[in-house]
Order: sequence, then structure tokens, then C-alpha cells
Amino acid sequence: MNDLVSPETSLGTPMAPPLGTASAIDSHAASATGAHAASAMPPHAASAIDTSAVMNVTPRPPIVFAAGEGSWLTDTAGRRYLDFIQGWAVNCLGHGHPALVQALAQQAQTLLTPSPAFYNDQMVRLCTLIAQQSGMERVFLCNSGAEANEGAIKLARKWGALHRDGAYEIITMDHGFHGRTLATMSASGKPAWEALFEPKVTGFPKVPLNDLAAVEAAIGPRTVAVMLEPIQGEAGVFPATVPYLRALRDLTERHGVLLILDEVQTGIGRTGRFFGFEHAGIRPDIMTLGKGLGGGVPVAALVATEAAAVFAHGDQGSTFGGNALAAAAGCAVMETIAAPGFLEQVSQMGAYLADRLAALSAKHGCGGLRGQGLLLALDLERPIGPAVVELALARGLLLNAPRPDSLRFMPALTVGSAEVDAMIAILDEVLGEVTAG
Ligand SMILES: Cc1ncc(COP(=O)(O)O)c(C=O)c1O
Repeated sequence: MNDLVSPETSLGTPMAPPLGTASAIDSHAASATGAHAASAMPPHAASAIDTSAVMNVTPRPPIVFAAGEGSWLTDTAGRRYLDFIQGWAVNCLGHGHPALVQALAQQAQTLLTPSPAFYNDQMVRLCTLIAQQSGMERVFLCNSGAEANEGAIKLARKWGALHRDGAYEIITMDHGFHGRTLATMSASGKPAWEALFEPKVTGFPKVPLNDLAAVEAAIGPRTVAVMLEPIQGEAGVFPATVPYLRALRDLTERHGVLLILDEVQTGIGRTGRFFGFEHAGIRPDIMTLGKGLGGGVPVAALVATEAAAVFAHGDQGSTFGGNALAAAAGCAVMETIAAPGFLEQVSQMGAYLADRLAALSAKHGCGGLRGQGLLLALDLERPIGPAVVELALARGLLLNAPRPDSLRFMPALTVGSAEVDAMIAILDEVLGEVTAG
């Protein structure tokens, strides 16, 4: 148990050295965080770790992580942090889970990358596990959610060329998030990206989430697919409703277009089921996976039904896609999550987290909860998210505010009630402080 948050310790008085003083990091990124997470921290001492070679694409606080175990991270100064971000819903088994560590260690000594032009035993095993679990027949392994989604877009366009008279438009959702390649940015409905990197890839008309009539109105002869996340994660955890998903499945079937579900964030147990679509009792034609699939190792998947899997030789490929090391990690994750009781535990812990957050919300005059399983957001009802994240970090808790009025919780699927309690205790203090100020 971390002494930062053990019951005996004053939560506001870290026993480890205060952030920044001992870790002594010199970074352009640190100065960039001035308006963000780093501003609550004491000024850091002279440079011990020069991070200036790291391209400055995001405001990083002056912390360098060096180790992790379960729900805890440790920085180079030895300070521990309770991790309710987990690599943005990536480390589904937490940091350093024995099943994953063992699979990687064993595979590292056996075979890494024999070339995607050949089968390898771990690639075949992982594709088979995903196919069996999803009921979808064909799996292409790759390295990131964006790459999987880029593949989904290409696959749908190929299908349109073969089966729908060259149709290529994919209807996507306002505020959706599908990645950072040019096509996946174009498919995303993130307002802040509208003016970026113009001209974008065309062919992605947008509609509001949960508005079936808008989708129906947008479907035309050029439409080949509808693409969405079962829960919009980056937008702030906004679920597609079950009736909407069911109706969308019917609508796409009636119009002879594909349904693509981006399960990069919702897949692999995050919502308490293996895949988000299971809550609606539907199955898409194409699904993408990433994040949790490798439990922290970069592995992603483009999954398709037999009918939708229309790539011909040469249409798709990836040098590292299906490499044996990453695939072994994926197998360890899939098998751990498929073990009896694992998903029930995710649902139970999700309900526990939701209960505790609801009580905290009532105490501090915040709003409702969104999401499912262990992908939850708390509506703060005022734009205090960044301040809460900043103060939580200073107390050794990693949280995320996907929008100024919301906090997102995406802990390890193995998180325990003691860790939820510890997180709630810190958040209680922080909310008290922020709302008092
Ligand atoms: C729903 C969804 N799709 C795609 C992506 C992109 O994944 P990656 O960052 O691995 O490319 C993300 C990342 O947050 C995501 O949440």
C-alpha cells in the first residue's frame, strides 16, 4: 500500500519528497505544463534528467516514470502515484501483471519478428482467440488503434468498390475519436481538429450521436458504412444507447451498408463485457481493437466478418503487425480476461466505483455519472476538471479530465476496492479544496 494514501498518512502531506524537488527534471515540456498539471508543483531543481530530446507535442508535467506495479506508478525520485489513467485505458491488467510479464519474457527468448509475410504461432493464436471471442471470422493484427481504424476505413472502401458500386462515404459521429492519422482524424468529429492539417481526407459526413434519423437522412448512394464508438471515450465518455445501437444495426442492414464499431477503448473487458457491442446484443461487420488488447504492449486488431473481409493480397500490410512478441502479450491478456469470474469482477468494481463517485458527487454538488464498467466519467458541472487533475497529481493521484467539466476514470481492470477508496479519499480532499477556492 502506498504510504501517500494509507489511512495513517495525512493525504495532504506526502511522505515522499514533494514533486519536482527530488526528481529534478529539466524539460521544455515542463515549462509547457505551466498552465496545466505542473503549475501546482513546487519549482523543480537543477537538471538531473534532460528531457529536451523528447518532441514537445503535449504538456507533460516534470515527472519521469520509471516503474509500475498494479495500480501504482513510481517516478525516478521514488515517489508513488495511484494510477486511474493506466496509459489511457491501455494497461487493462495494471502495471507488471505476472501473466503478461511471463508471456513477454518467454516470448522474448523464443521469437520476436519472423516477418509478417509468414505465419507465426503467436499471431495465429491471437487471431484465433479474437475470432472465437467476437464471433467474427477474420483478424488483421497491427500496432495502434489509429492503424486498425485506418485499415477499417480502407476495408470498407474496398467493400464499397466491390459490392456497392464504388460507394466510399463513411458516416461518423460528431465528437467521435478514431486516431491521429490523416484519415482517422478526418473520420473523427473533434471540433478542435477541424482547421488542422487541411485538406483532410474527404468522405466522412458527420451526424450527432444517438440520432438515428440523422443517420438515415445521411445515407445515400455513396454511403458504404457507419462508424462509431460504443462509448465515445475521448469526447468525455458519452455512450451510444442500447436502443440506438440496435436500431443502427437494423438500419445499416436494411440499407446494405456496413456497421463499423471502434472498440479501441471499449473492447477487451473495459465495460464489463469482452466487447462493448455485447451490451446491445448486436455484432458489427467490422470492429477495431487496440489499447487494452496488449495490456501495455502495442498491439491492435482489425476484425471483420467473413463477408466484410474483402482485402486482396497487397491491399493491407504492416511490418510489425502480428509480430510474435506483441501477439504473445495479446494472448496473455485475452486469456486472463476470459478466465472465469474476471469480467464479473470488472462489473462489480465498476459498480463500486460508480457508487463511491455518486456519493462524492452528492457531497460536493457535482453532477451525474456516464459510462459503463470501468470506463466512467463524473460530470463536475463546472469547468474545474483541469484544476482537479492538477491538485490530484500533486497528491500522487493520476486522473484525466477529457473536457473541462468532466473527470474520466479508467483504472486497471484488476483495481481493488482499497485502491478505489484511496482514490476517492484524495478526490474528496481535492474537490473540497477546488470548490472552496
Ligand atoms: C476510440 C479510439 N479509437 C482510436 C484511438 C487511437 O488509438 P491509438 O492512439 O492507439 O492510435 C483511440 C485513442 O484514444 C480511441 O480512444
